[in-house]
Amino acid sequence: MCGIVGYIGARNSQDVLLDGLKKLEYRGYDSAGVAVFTSNGLEVKKAKGRLAVLESQLASSPLIGTAGIGHTRWATHGKPSDVNSHPHTDNGMRFSVVHNGIIENYLTLKEELSAKGHRFVSETDTEVLSHLLADLYDGSLVRTVQKAVKKLKGAFALAVMYVHEPDQLVAVRQASPLIIGVGQGENFIGSDIPAVLNYTRDIYILNDGEMAVLTRNGVELMDLDGNNISRELFVVDWDLSTAEKGGFDHFMLKEIHEQPKAYRDTMGGRIDVQANKIILDELNLKQEDIRALEKIHIVACGTAYHAGLVGRSVIESLTRIPVESDVASEYRYRSPIINERTLVIVVSQSGETADTLAALREAKRYGAKVLAITNVVGSSVAREADEVLFTWAGPEIAVASTKAYSSQLIAFYLLGLHLAAQRDSVKAGDLAELIHALQKLPEQVEELLQQAPAIKSLAEAFAARSSVFFIGRGLDYAAAMEGSLKLKEISYIHSEAYAAGELKHGTLALIEQGVPVIALATQEELLEKMISNIKEVKARDAFVLGIVMEGGADLADCADQVLKIPRTMPLLAPALSAIPLQLLAYYASLARGNDVDKPRNLAKSVTVE
Ligand code: G6P
Repeated sequence: MCGIVGYIGARNSQDVLLDGLKKLEYRGYDSAGVAVFTSNGLEVKKAKGRLAVLESQLASSPLIGTAGIGHTRWATHGKPSDVNSHPHTDNGMRFSVVHNGIIENYLTLKEELSAKGHRFVSETDTEVLSHLLADLYDGSLVRTVQKAVKKLKGAFALAVMYVHEPDQLVAVRQASPLIIGVGQGENFIGSDIPAVLNYTRDIYILNDGEMAVLTRNGVELMDLDGNNISRELFVVDWDLSTAEKGGFDHFMLKEIHEQPKAYRDTMGGRIDVQANKIILDELNLKQEDIRALEKIHIVACGTAYHAGLVGRSVIESLTRIPVESDVASEYRYRSPIINERTLVIVVSQSGETADTLAALREAKRYGAKVLAITNVVGSSVAREADEVLFTWAGPEIAVASTKAYSSQLIAFYLLGLHLAAQRDSVKAGDLAELIHALQKLPEQVEELLQQAPAIKSLAEAFAARSSVFFIGRGLDYAAAMEGSLKLKEISYIHSEAYAAGELKHGTLALIEQGVPVIALATQEELLEKMISNIKEVKARDAFVLGIVMEGGADLADCADQVLKIPRTMPLLAPALSAIPLQLLAYYASLARGNDVDKPRNLAKSVTVE
């Protein structure tokens, strides 16, 4: 999703802008550009493709100046092209704008402005804003931005510069993330913190409907009517090196290997080992609130949705509270039946996903209590939810989520166990056994990571196939859905996950000789049924890769290969089976020569609906 940076200070701005944009690459993008105040006025360079393309253009003809804005674009309105790239300008090259989000009423504005003689060169929604600013300019950039923004509908984060006021940048946030970095004699704009962290740790997080005016020596925060806002600086206490590759070939591989730590950190301080108790002190939910709950909705997108599917089974089986899970883009429009005895759990790694955020707001509007499971402190979801349970996975850079997903599973286990204890819905002995098994997971993941070489050769064989199927029952089905998504999103191999018992109702028609079927068989109470399903595909000559627990299912007569995960309680198995499936996807993508960390067409943080 689009990334925004801005700089005003004493340094060569193009270097700072490029550096910031590199830190935002993980968001996914297809083109990039910068605008700088130079001795010639306002100059823009932009190019379709990777940042390296823009970088080489800037190396051969630099834009010399100490203030500017930059952007990585993830196409929504108009295909990726030089001309559709940001920054956009008006016809007089006076105003320059970068934008993340969607201006929903851009067509109406475009018509009005065209009628007044503005000539549009791109297909984007953003370009209307640069023309609108030119049209409305009244002698003050700040005032003009306020007027212009009030005419926009939709979601936007903006950075704006005006040629005749070269000592300031203006930033606006309305439903798309934006932060301001505060330095000494220099200030910064970023879509998120890593963009500015090389230069400062002092951050202002903007809220919706707020703007910032940056000069070299100060930052003024105000609302869209110009009323000053005072805000405490947020001081970042994590290091950029935690967001760098640390010797691994790809962020994804690094993040896969960080899962033991992510599990430990997410559990850290939340388990009283002596008392065999879960302690979620950060939650304000009291025992009577928990006992009064009538239903739970879990809402999320993509991988986080799959974590929610596991969460649903975990919470239902531990608490017997009815749980529904939904993708956020559906939930927000289906008038969900919610009351004040409903707990809505939103799950979001970034905490900025537009649909998830909208679902959160919708749920609050209907009076539900909203609990967020998120990885990003200070994110919109974290700030707007009533309750927050952080996953301590650390920054996740690869577009394909791994450690954030599995840490979300840990969060669901902790939450499920906590709710169960408060409702007395599980016997003390069973709770203790689960808590004990939970604590063993990090070292079991370490053990599993040793299997990487074997998984690599399997993946290389799969890489030549055009289609792969995943099957499972119960929690294995939820885990299969995530395994399948992981494989397709980075290897581009067509892949589908099926509830194993459902396969014969249609999809079995696609199974023929050699088609890989990855069969998860860790849920021991469903094993006999699962083995019958595996035999159904084997009878059609599929190539079956079984995933079982040590000492569990024996697939000797129906699987071609078997991967074993360490023995755990069936409820916890998805936190282990995820690992070989992630590695399989990683190595398949690598074998196909894909850009593993930045798969085509996808974005890390999806801030448009
Ligand atoms: C994008 C990412 C996925 C992620 C999903 C939800 O599609 O590529 O990896 O699962 O958004 O993101 P969130 O930040 O809300 O978990």
